[in-house]
Amino acid sequence: MCGIVGYAGHRQAVPILLRALKDLEYRGYDSAGIAVLDGDSLSITKRQGKIANLESAINATASGTVGIGHTRWATHGRPSDQNAHPHVSCDERVVVIHNGIVENYAPLREALGARGHVFRSETDTETVAHLLEEEMRAGADLFEALRRTAQRIEGSQAVVAMSLDEPGVLAAARLGNAGGVVIGFGDGEMVVASDLAAVLPITQDVAFLSDGQVARVTPKGAEVRTVSGEPVPLQRKRVPIDPVTALKGQYPHFMLKEIHEQPEALADTIWSLATLEPPALYFDDLGPAADRLPDVDRVILIGMGTSLHAAMLGQRYIEAFARVPASVDNGSEFRYRDPVVDERTLVVSVSQSGETVDVLEAMAVARAAGAVQVTVCNTEGAQTTRVADGTVYTRAGLERGVASTKCFSSAVVALYLFALRLAQAKGRISQSELAAHLGELAQLPRAVADVIANRERYRRVAARLAQAQHALFLGRGLAHPVAMEGALKLKEISYIHAEGYAAGEMKHGPIALIEPAFPTVAIATQHALRAKMVSNIEQIQARGGPVIGVVSEGDEELTALCDEVITVPRVSSWLEPVVSVVPLQLVAYDVAVHRGCDVDQPRNLAKTVTVE
Ligand code: F6R
Repeated sequence: MCGIVGYAGHRQAVPILLRALKDLEYRGYDSAGIAVLDGDSLSITKRQGKIANLESAINATASGTVGIGHTRWATHGRPSDQNAHPHVSCDERVVVIHNGIVENYAPLREALGARGHVFRSETDTETVAHLLEEEMRAGADLFEALRRTAQRIEGSQAVVAMSLDEPGVLAAARLGNAGGVVIGFGDGEMVVASDLAAVLPITQDVAFLSDGQVARVTPKGAEVRTVSGEPVPLQRKRVPIDPVTALKGQYPHFMLKEIHEQPEALADTIWSLATLEPPALYFDDLGPAADRLPDVDRVILIGMGTSLHAAMLGQRYIEAFARVPASVDNGSEFRYRDPVVDERTLVVSVSQSGETVDVLEAMAVARAAGAVQVTVCNTEGAQTTRVADGTVYTRAGLERGVASTKCFSSAVVALYLFALRLAQAKGRISQSELAAHLGELAQLPRAVADVIANRERYRRVAARLAQAQHALFLGRGLAHPVAMEGALKLKEISYIHAEGYAAGEMKHGPIALIEPAFPTVAIATQHALRAKMVSNIEQIQARGGPVIGVVSEGDEELTALCDEVITVPRVSSWLEPVVSVVPLQLVAYDVAVHRGCDVDQPRNLAKTVTVE
């Protein structure tokens, strides 16, 4: 989950690394550090806390055109200056940044200590610096030293190292699924980083390392080998992400910007996968998965957090349109429960980053069982897209806010369209039905834009929720995942305890919590289940609990019944989750701002979760 970046080129490295670290800060913000090499001098600055602390501490005169930088999400060792990366070897000639976990660090540390190495931090990472030192003392160059070290460390991780003995060279490794390594090819300059956000300001010409690969990067290019030493031809590609989407622009926070980008993001997702005239679906990246879809007899959707909530909606769409039994699971549970999977099972993974380790490990289990795999992903070339047989790209643009917003709604529509595609493959949908679905989908970006335009109307709801210690979110049918997502958004950025429940569950336990200071957000837009939601709302109010209703425009009865309402435009009931979730995102945002929380970097979280 840490952010890592290395630069080798002709420009001063410090400003480039600092800028890149700001682009990576969403991956972790416990501490940050930079090391730059200038001939035979190595200068390292590291500070606990956010990049701003590092920036004010850094020596403006630290010069050098080669360097590495790191922003940390602590795993081994508390956040402190001392535990901040980069870490150095005893002779202070090798310097390392790292993302992931050296699982055998304890025995390695003991053995290195017995051989006279002195540790300066509590981190697992420092073992890598000492191992590299040993390999280099034994005659290896930096690249070879990292290749050999990669065979000695266990666990999933990414490493970038440099050495005073080879100025101008960076060595990088990707081992397992703990995080990506992207190499960017600039004009006489190269960058290597944990993700595209840090590379795009320099170049869109990139290559991705796969699991078990080590790279030697110099200002002129890169050479890659497997950990066992075989050369690997690099597959360079031009990524189509516009670097402008990485900027906050007029918005105070990335989250608010990304909420506002939803109409456009949804349109991009929809029209990259479908056309209205003629009504048709275009899943160009399905690869070999396309031919296997007609034989699929079961679907399992996996994801984590917000992506799991999108997967829950995908399950409903697949069962409804393709009539194939579908279930949904956390990647972290699926992996360890010995699931029943065979070659007729379709596993659909949903991951914005495509780098979430819980999802990648679940995909490895599915692969071993012979399942056909499709991933719904927002990141070009991410690891899930390389493991799956086929990809459905969401095309929402770069998402920087730690709380996912536009990638959730885009994943929901991508899953909706994929369910139609599966229905086609199974012969379960007519051309006129497809046309009707696409016609409804075409209205969605406009409806979401209307929701966003009504932002002022939701402020009263936010002011009310901001006073609460706890909140319950309830929904039935397709509104159940929305309730879970609304609760997650509120708790993760405002630190108000919130739970999302299937409304029918309420009377089986949560109703005991209801009292005047405990608000319930009731998502009552699913028309077929509306009467049941009305009963739930009345049951809550009978016990003195205030109810904030999310209701469809023109629903006078519910508007009169609820203590506060959020009205959303009427759309097809299949698409209601998308229009109902947007005001909940806006309310969570306003509550967090009201409470003075750090919206884009909530405490303890990181955007890409690459540890189990
Ligand atoms: C919450 C949030 C997380 C992610 C989860 C999975 O707002 O963003 O719950 O959804 O960490 O991440 P991806 O989608 O990258 O696999």
